[in-house]
Amino acid sequence: MRVLAIESSCDESAAAVLDATAGLMSHELYSQVELHRTYGGVVPELASRDHVRRLLPLVKAALARSATSPGDLSGIAYTAGPGLIGALLTGASLAASLAYAWKIPVIGVHHLEGHLLAPLLESDPPPFPHVALLVSGGHTQLIEVAAVGSYRLLGETRDDAAGEAFDKTAKLLGLPYPGGPQLAEIARRGTPGAFHFPRPMLDRAGLEFSFSGLKTAVLHAVRAAELTEQRRADIARAVEEAIAGTLTAKALRALDYTGLTALVVSGGVGANRTLREQLAAAARAHGARVYYPRIEFCTDNAAMIAVAGLARLKAGQRGGLAIEARAQWPLAALPRLAA
Ligand code: KG4
Ligand code: ZN
Repeated sequence: MRVLAIESSCDESAAAVLDATAGLMSHELYSQVELHRTYGGVVPELASRDHVRRLLPLVKAALARSATSPGDLSGIAYTAGPGLIGALLTGASLAASLAYAWKIPVIGVHHLEGHLLAPLLESDPPPFPHVALLVSGGHTQLIEVAAVGSYRLLGETRDDAAGEAFDKTAKLLGLPYPGGPQLAEIARRGTPGAFHFPRPMLDRAGLEFSFSGLKTAVLHAVRAAELTEQRRADIARAVEEAIAGTLTAKALRALDYTGLTALVVSGGVGANRTLREQLAAAARAHGARVYYPRIEFCTDNAAMIAVAGLARLKAGQRGGLAIEARAQWPLAALPRLAA
């Protein structure tokens, strides 16, 4: 089986070809980050219009690079949600049109299932069952993954996602959008312990997160004195340590709670070096192991949508030609795959 996958849920347009035997054959991506930078965040209407411009050339490139013709394809997978509704519609309508023209099956994929399954593309994939820490711009969740298609939510954020907390505090520090990676960059020059920000919910039992209080703490620190380069780096370092510290402690708590020893970390924040170092050290001390997708597949991409799509098409699931796009879509609502 070979699938073409299309991702357009937010500000990345992407296409990929995955073969059940040969593995990942091509993946193409265009990031709209420059387009949205002027506005300090993703502008949904601009994102949709740009997807319309970018997607077809990306699909053509993904097919050409993998020497795939439509006749070689067993199906098309596209991101059906959650995400920006207009952006989702561009990918969904392209996928449905191609499937109609080429007379092949099509399936709408859950974006977070894509993030969860992205590490399966690596040569040393995680075992099942495992715990997944999903940390992106829109989500912060701990999930027990019994098998492909079997997800139990253990805990999630009550307010801001971890990526959102990075981006919002970065903005307070005067860094351009999306601030997460830039905050991480200047944090490397920060003095450890110069600031200490709260690690919310850490003192409470359970696996929930809350990151909205961090913004207020950072705002006070920013306003308290002149924001020199060093002070900025010191604050950035403390922000990173508060977020990474909280995520690490709760991920370990989830391993204890489930009795599992494999932890998957996926989503854009999974690219954060401090988080990776803290998780590695904590897991080692705990007799557990951490698995990641390669850095480029931590953030949004179509290869991960292909993995989820291929698994579901293989199991006989089909989407039909009606266009599916859901802004909100709980993972638990996904149909299970037969064991
Ligand atoms: O998974 P993703 O690409 O998109 C969503 O589905 O949300 O995640 C993007 C998020 C942004 O908030 C970005 O600032 C954050 O991931 N991010 C990082 C790093 N790289 C990306 N945050 C902290 N450190 C990084 N190195
Ligand atoms: Zn994502």
